[in-house]
Amino acid sequence: MRVGVLASGSGSNFQALVDALHREGSPARVTCLICNVPGAKVLERAAKAGVEAVAIDHKTFSSREAFDAQLAKELGERGVELVVLAGYMRLVTPALLSRFPGRVVNVHPALLPAFPGLHAPRQALAYGVAISGCTVHFVDEGTDTGPIIAQAAVPVLPDDDEASLGARIQKEEHRLFPAIVREIALGTISVEGRRVKRPGVIA
Ligand code: GAR
Repeated sequence: MRVGVLASGSGSNFQALVDALHREGSPARVTCLICNVPGAKVLERAAKAGVEAVAIDHKTFSSREAFDAQLAKELGERGVELVVLAGYMRLVTPALLSRFPGRVVNVHPALLPAFPGLHAPRQALAYGVAISGCTVHFVDEGTDTGPIIAQAAVPVLPDDDEASLGARIQKEEHRLFPAIVREIALGTISVEGRRVKRPGVIA
């Protein structure tokens, strides 16, 4: 399966996907990266990994829809079958989603539906939860509201700050996200309403 990654920043999740999936016999491969922030570190990572990278600055577009239509075109031209949001810091619109129905997934650094949106580890610390984690979910038009595919829990420790909790959560993201992309590529995941079925996995 040809995977297109959208990212905005450092790209540690992009790296984890490449490291896990670019192996002999893998059912999925990252074939392109599109980054909406020119100069972001993820572009360097793509160059090093030999993955085609395209920088498209969203600020040069007149609307979200116009930008997403361009993304859909670029991904479509490259034969992408699954769109993976890996630290992609923008909402997506039907201009992208309608081109890839049920084929857009995201990783979020909290146990949704708690703490959607930006700075999720900061939100979790401010709220005072004892357990946070990460969520991989299908993407719909809302902010982190699509059907949940998998979650991993991470304890909040007494001395945690945003950086230490964020790093502990990312460690889980790097394990969970490639595993889910692999399952999607193998065709074993199905969705009934909001419930996502993963045979053999007790949710
Ligand atoms: C990741 O922790 C990801 O979950 C988060 O941004 C980070 C990007 O790190 N995404 C969101 O907050 C989306 N709402 P990375 O660029 O090193 O992969």
